[in-house]
Amino acid sequence: MTSLQRFTTAARKSRNPAAGVCWACATRAYTKYVIKENDIVVLKKSTSDDRIEPILSKPLKYGTNVKTPVGSIPADEIIGKSWRDVVVKSKGKKETAYRILQPSMGQFVELYPRIVTPIYPRDANLIVSLLDLHPTAPNEANEDDRLEIFEAGTGHGGLTLHLAKAIHAANTAAPPIPPRRQAEAVTPPVTENDIDAVAPPKSIEQIEAEQADATEEAYKNWMHKRRAVIHTLDAAEAHSLHAQRVVRNFRDGIYFPHVDFHVGGIPEYLTSRLADTKEAFLEHAILDLPSIHDYLEIVGKALRPNGILITFCPSITQVLSCVHEVKDKKLPFLLEKVLETGISAGVGGREWDVRTVRPKALVKAEVAAREQLGDVDESLDSLDEDAQADAEPATESSRGWEAVCRPKVAARVTGGGFVGVWRRME
Ligand SMILES: C[S@@+](CC[C@H](N)C(=O)[O-])C[C@H]1O[C@@H](n2cnc3c(N)ncnc32)[C@H](O)[C@@H]1O
Repeated sequence: MTSLQRFTTAARKSRNPAAGVCWACATRAYTKYVIKENDIVVLKKSTSDDRIEPILSKPLKYGTNVKTPVGSIPADEIIGKSWRDVVVKSKGKKETAYRILQPSMGQFVELYPRIVTPIYPRDANLIVSLLDLHPTAPNEANEDDRLEIFEAGTGHGGLTLHLAKAIHAANTAAPPIPPRRQAEAVTPPVTENDIDAVAPPKSIEQIEAEQADATEEAYKNWMHKRRAVIHTLDAAEAHSLHAQRVVRNFRDGIYFPHVDFHVGGIPEYLTSRLADTKEAFLEHAILDLPSIHDYLEIVGKALRPNGILITFCPSITQVLSCVHEVKDKKLPFLLEKVLETGISAGVGGREWDVRTVRPKALVKAEVAAREQLGDVDESLDSLDEDAQADAEPATESSRGWEAVCRPKVAARVTGGGFVGVWRRME
């Protein structure tokens, strides 16, 4: 009897169609999963109207409610159900049905209450793909490899989650996350010797957590052996704390162990790491914060040759500030591309040509001035033809002011920005 015949016979005998499904399909987690206490779910109104925003619950607790626009739904009615089941809210004679779904990463980032604007999932996915990451599974031959990626600012933790997912395959399975690391600002130690030095002041939760020494120890050891880490830094502790909750709450913290959260300044963090490593240690870096150009020099020191730096700026003039900084300070970066993201730019971003050129009028004036002084070692003939044709319109005003320079989307500018992809040269 073939295996197919065995399945059909089993199904017929038991009068249960599932019995005829092969074992691997029948046991897939997403078909069998039963929603537990502490799970976070999405409630989506059972309607074809896509404009109705889904609802992201808090971690479900018995005896609590999930608020919806038509009233509260008891968590007890959701716990025990499976993905795609329906809960019904009755109000008078009106019944509203909500389908229970597992939040995708994109939904989670967009729907989680926020205190700062995240990079939207579409842009986060683009950034991750631009880094062209190919983490390999750990084995004996590669256990000493280390992939360190730096991100600043952490913000909502939206990009952090996407980055952590992208390196997930490079680390061995993480042990259980100790309770004290679940939602606190934990700045992981820079070196092994700093472990005790940076321990935050004790709270009741920490005292309890210290009792779980074995869990903590196993977790710490695992962290030191990770082959891939996202270092994410924010100047605002409140933002870092918030992002830790976002990352910790997504799918029970599946990606949390791959991330080290830091609070402080970029130069301070990178300089102290460089003092330890004595050489560039970052594979890639991503900057999404104001005045990015101020940090290019220190990031250039910490980034390994051939590494990629992604800059995310809301305005094209900020990309220009970076271009000028690299040119003025002769920093080892090559601007490979600039992509405009956002609804009007389409999937994958719209490419911009951003480079410095010397306006023809300015060069003419300089040559004329030199001629007057009898000091002509350069003539207009030597000017690059492209440079003459493409002379950049003045997009930046002087005296410390930057002009806003980007397309408007309806009345408000929502989402999107300019992604700069810079290659670290030798
Ligand atoms: C737009 S948010 C980043 C959003 C984030 N990429 C996300 O996807 O959720 C900018 C963050 O940069 C932080 N920030 C601003 N200036 C900073 C600085 N000099 N150093 C580190 N972080 C800074 C802010 O506190 C804020 O959280």
